[in-house]
Amino acid sequence: MTNRADPIKLKMPSDKKRIAVIPGDGIGREVIAEALRVLERVETTHEVALEMVEFDWGADKFLTEGVSLPAGALEMLTSEFDAILAGAFGDPRVPSNQHAEDILLGMRRGLDLYINLRPVRLLHARLTPLRDRKTEDINFVVFRENTEGAYCGAGGFLKKGTADEVATQEELNTRRGVERIIVAAFEYARANGRKRVTMADKSNVQRFGGDLWQRAFKEVAADYSEIEANHQYVDAMAMFMVLDPAQYDVIVSNNLFGDILTDLGAAIQGGLGLAASGNIHPGRVSLFEPVHGSAPALAGQGIANPVGAILTSAMMLEYLGHKQASEAIQKAVSEAISHNETTHDLGGSLSTEQAGAAIRDRLV
Ligand code: NAD
Ligand code: IPM
Ligand code: MN
Repeated sequence: MTNRADPIKLKMPSDKKRIAVIPGDGIGREVIAEALRVLERVETTHEVALEMVEFDWGADKFLTEGVSLPAGALEMLTSEFDAILAGAFGDPRVPSNQHAEDILLGMRRGLDLYINLRPVRLLHARLTPLRDRKTEDINFVVFRENTEGAYCGAGGFLKKGTADEVATQEELNTRRGVERIIVAAFEYARANGRKRVTMADKSNVQRFGGDLWQRAFKEVAADYSEIEANHQYVDAMAMFMVLDPAQYDVIVSNNLFGDILTDLGAAIQGGLGLAASGNIHPGRVSLFEPVHGSAPALAGQGIANPVGAILTSAMMLEYLGHKQASEAIQKAVSEAISHNETTHDLGGSLSTEQAGAAIRDRLV
């Protein structure tokens, strides 16, 4: 008898995806540990092969060695990895947030990860703080521009430290940058059967950048006649996200508004502990991280919710072409939540590790 492997089960070496794992600071490390255990499990239940390489970039390294994003890191990530899975960056011992800016914004900008894709989905009606909402009422996706806007780092001080001090903080909007995130939002809507794209800006006040966004939005929308193109000022959107979230399908906005709207989105889906995100440049090495930060007050207690990180790893798997495995993780998460197998922030009584184990146990 020849010992022939079932060809369908055979994993080709080239199928193995290399993942750079950067747990970072605070609860980032705790939730990434659970995401890694889920990914390990999925390798046994699905045709998924991953090679994880961990990096210790974060506040400790910055404080002891003075190194945030090591020299050559971006080149290494591009040439040696398929994706990056990160936890969170931020530490009270680094009040300037310098290391987080270098590492996180450094990867977003340096790898040109122009799409920050942040789904907002209510997994169980009891999770939302909004009254009388069903799961189908909260189900949209935010396309946050991720490389420019108020995050461009331009600005400066005049007469710093004096009574006449002036600080400028500039916002950069390039035609190319604005257009490509709007195109990405419409392409996503078309590919996923979404009916409406809503663009949020503050063009009634920000007359230059806002004007560019308005023109680009109208021009791009003309190529997607089957999709409704809708506009709201961002302040109104913040209100409607609370009063009438069911109207949203796909939202597109700039870097800063997208940042704020997605914390609000996280809140209406049950909290920051649930929210996942992908920093994506289609076809290139992309970065996946939960929306939440390092939550210093929770760190070290083993009580942080690992779901955001676990759903983030599911997003990563989908990006890497493992749709079934990704859906299996999402299903396991939904089931665990339905059975109240959650951490305290969702009303449960499980630790981070127990909540991760509950999801793993439901993975088939
Ligand atoms: P945060 O997201 O860390 O916490 C905000 C609130 O949400 C806190 O009450 C926290 O307890 C709760 N929360 C967040 N994640 C949770 C989880 N997994 N489970 C349960 N509760 C959770 O935001 P913050 O307090 O404004 O910032 C803390 C630090 O994190 C700062 O240094 C900030 O710059 C940084 N930060 C980093 C990222 C990132 O790396 N992507 C994102 C946001 C904030
Ligand atoms: C996020 C965070 C980051 C941002 C910070 C930590 C730089 O809030 O990923 O949403 O503002 O983008
Ligand atoms: Mn944020």
